[in-house]
Amino acid sequence: MITLNVNGKEHALDVTDDTPILWALRDVIGLTGTKFGCGKALCGACTIHLDGQATRSCITPVSLASGKKITTIESIGETEVGKRIQEAWLALDVVQCGYCQSGQIMSASALLAQTPNPSDEDIDNAMSGNICRCGTYPRIKAAIKNAAKVKA
Ligand code: FES
Ligand code: FES
Repeated sequence: MITLNVNGKEHALDVTDDTPILWALRDVIGLTGTKFGCGKALCGACTIHLDGQATRSCITPVSLASGKKITTIESIGETEVGKRIQEAWLALDVVQCGYCQSGQIMSASALLAQTPNPSDEDIDNAMSGNICRCGTYPRIKAAIKNAAKVKA
């Protein structure tokens, strides 16, 4: 039994310590906004925040989340930065098929929370682990820049 704090709510889960957080989120808690892509930390589809850090939930065991705060795409819009990112995503119509986009938004919001005015290089570095088979990269980059500009 392990207790996870997900989006501000405590969940007592009957899973083994080595269960990936992604499995706990999707299959046990029922939060399916976080996606499974590669299962090997290669695509970024499963990105969540663990105490604010962008984290690949497919390879991170629940034991590492004990005592920490997990934030998923379902509640990122409740943070100031996440809201700005989502608004910029909508304004620029970033999404194509959508599969990679929850992970993209989680990586982008972690970046802006830590680096409010990111350079092109900062954006490239922060987003390089998030793959988009639809090739939305130019719009993702533009939306991150827009979200950064909106900050008062
Ligand atoms: S599913 Fe986790 S990085 Fe691809
Ligand atoms: S929008 Fe289709 S994979 Fe990125």
